[in-house]
Amino acid sequence: MPEVDPRAACEAGHLARLRGIRRSRAAFHALAIGVFALGMVMPGAVRPAQADDPQIQLGKALFKSNANPPCSTCHTLKDAEASGPIGPDLDELQPTKDQVLAVLRDGLGVMPSFAETLNQSQREAIAAYVVWATRPR
Ligand code: HEC
Repeated sequence: MPEVDPRAACEAGHLARLRGIRRSRAAFHALAIGVFALGMVMPGAVRPAQADDPQIQLGKALFKSNANPPCSTCHTLKDAEASGPIGPDLDELQPTKDQVLAVLRDGLGVMPSFAETLNQSQREAIAAYVVWATRPR
C-alpha cells in the first residue's frame, strides 16, 4: 500500500471542490445570460403585456371600433368600455387565446368569421388583448 500524505490528499480534495464551484458558477452565468437574452427577444414570454404594448393597443382599437363589425357591438368588455348585449360577456367568459383565435377564424352562431376581414397579426392582437383585458393584473 503506497503511503498517502494526508495533507496532499486534503489539498487535492480542496482543489477539486474549488473547481466544482467554479464550474457551477459558470453554468449559472450561462443560464442567467440565456434568460436575459430570451427576455430581449421575446419580452412577452418573460413579463406580462402592459397597456402600452403596441400589440395590446392594436387589439383594443380593433375590438372597440376598427374590426368590421366591431366586437364591442355584441360583447361586453369593461376595459374596452363595451357593453354589447348579443354575445357572451367576455369579462365573465375569460376565453383563452386559442379560443378567441378559433372563433375569429371560424365564427360561431350569430358571430361572423373575421378570417376575411382581419389578417393573422390583427387576429393575434385581438386575442392577446382579450386575454390581457379579462385577467386580473
Ligand atoms: C354580431 C355580433 C358579434 C360580433 C360583432 C362579435 N361577436 Fe363574438 N360572439 C357573438 C355571439 C352571439 C357569440 C356566442 C355564439 C354561440 O355560442 O352560439 C360569440 C362568441 C364569442 C366568443 C366565445 C367563443 C367560444 O368559444 O365560446 C368569443 C371569445 C368572442 N365571441 C369574441 C369576439 C371578438 C374578439 C370579436 C371581434 C373581433 C367578436 N367576438 C365579434 C357575437 C358577436
